Amino acid sequence: MENLVFSLVLFSLALAMPWANATDQGPEEAWFRSLCQGKEKVAQLRFYIQDALSGPNATVWEVARSNITSTSPTSFGQVRVIDDLITAGPDPSSMKLGRAQGLITMADLQVPAIAMNINFYFSAGKYNGSTLCILGRNQILSPNRELPVVGGTGAFRMARGYSISNTYSYDIVANYGVLEYVVYVTYVELEE
Ligand SMILES: *[C@@H]1O[C@H](CO)[C@@H](O)[C@H](O)[C@H]1NC(C)=O
Ligand SMILES: *[C@@H]1O[C@H](CO)[C@@H](O)[C@H](O)[C@H]1NC(C)=O
Ligand SMILES: *[C@@H]1O[C@H](CO)[C@@H](O)[C@H](O)[C@H]1NC(C)=O
Repeated sequence: MENLVFSLVLFSLALAMPWANATDQGPEEAWFRSLCQGKEKVAQLRFYIQDALSGPNATVWEVARSNITSTSPTSFGQVRVIDDLITAGPDPSSMKLGRAQGLITMADLQVPAIAMNINFYFSAGKYNGSTLCILGRNQILSPNRELPVVGGTGAFRMARGYSISNTYSYDIVANYGVLEYVVYVTYVELEE
């Protein structure tokens, strides 16, 4: 049934794109066309994010703030860019899996909550070279924060799912946090 739906979608795409003939099919289009033979896979990933908030080796940097950010109880309007290390375990010296890169904006006047747009870029292991894109609201002081997985690239093409994150530890002196992410994701894997 699912294959039929995919075929119908491809068929209507072909009708809608009369200029897309066989000769200009790149590998990306070929991938899309063979999607109907693909299998939907489910994965659960667990990893840790090293959040170095200050110091010369910080991986979180402020790029903008509003006039009320410094007096706001929720730092409203603060915009930061992050490039955090992703590790397999909570220890910063555990296996490096990639980077968490993107934008975090303090976007709630009442409670500390972030509007985040983060790409998990994996550079080791099974998903080396692939990315997952997370976009959503993160109420940072709550446990089990849920964020949507809205897509991905490479192994995670057509990904969707959600992630649950928790603060594993926070060192107030070093201003260093370790965040645990468990990501539940479905994606399409083509048959060999
Ligand atoms: C920053 O990183 C450099 C290079 O890895 C290291 O030598 C230095 O000790 C680090 N500084 C701090 C304050 O962690
Ligand atoms: C915000 O700060 C800027 C620069 O200090 C100032 O020119 C502007 O009037 C301020 N705006 C408000 C709404 O307070
Ligand atoms: C990840 O993939 C790149 C490109 O194929 C390769 O150069 C690199 O060695 C791989 N990294 C690991 C840790 O496997």
